[in-house]
Amino acid sequence: MDWVHSFYDTQDELTGCHSSGLHPHHHALAARLTAHRGQPGSLLELGAGGGQFAVAAAQVGHAVTALELRPSGTVHTQRLAALHGVQVNAMTGDFYTADPGGPFDMLAYWDGFGVGDDAEQARLLARFPEWLAPGGAAYVDVYTPWYWAQHAGFTRETPAYVQSYGFDADRCRLLDTYARADGKTVTQSLRCYSPEDVRRLLHGTALVLDEVWPGGRFDPRAGTWHPRAPLGECLSFTAVLKRA
Ligand SMILES: C[S@@+](CC[C@H](N)C(=O)[O-])C[C@H]1O[C@@H](n2cnc3c(N)ncnc32)[C@H](O)[C@@H]1O
Repeated sequence: MDWVHSFYDTQDELTGCHSSGLHPHHHALAARLTAHRGQPGSLLELGAGGGQFAVAAAQVGHAVTALELRPSGTVHTQRLAALHGVQVNAMTGDFYTADPGGPFDMLAYWDGFGVGDDAEQARLLARFPEWLAPGGAAYVDVYTPWYWAQHAGFTRETPAYVQSYGFDADRCRLLDTYARADGKTVTQSLRCYSPEDVRRLLHGTALVLDEVWPGGRFDPRAGTWHPRAPLGECLSFTAVLKRA
């Protein structure tokens, strides 16, 4: 998994996506979790990136711990929290081994599940019961095979880089490659799952898939983003996990 350390720093250097400010999407997501739980609570965010969601969640009263592998992500989270006048416990660490404390009322993992192989995903999920308070829920974005298989071949060109998508059909993984102007490339590879695949991954973990929230889809021909799509068309869904 060596690419994980270099990919997201390079992606941030080229696009600024992890060092940006808050977007309405982060506020909407924070509001959705508050509505689902009925009130603010303690929240652990895994793979928190630059902390935009963590800060949006803290703004509506959640007590947030943001765990991120890259130190630059933690620094940006702290900077954003100070800018917006909220407290976030921003930690640098590896979610397979770190001890973020807890238990928490909510776990969130946005835009990143599938970074490992099935055994690694199962290893991560097996930690959830230890982090989840009784009655708590985990919210995990999961990429769908059907969207990403179709999206393969799409490219986006800018003066600084060319981004191109592929799909490893044998391993059911989306491939996302940035080719820099100097010819160097970095690729992220993320395992895609259906809800039924997630149920299988959860076997033996003391967790169940309680709800499936279909996400959006990008239409590459029209260049338009549709924030809510049917499950069979969305690029990811949120798996809501609870104790069995
Ligand atoms: C695609 S980014 C998404 C960031 C953020 N969740 C968002 O939605 O903007 C995935 C993040 O997961 C982090 N990550 C990957 N593997 C990790 C690990 N083992 N422990 C902690 N964070 C990890 C990466 O460094 C990266 O910042």
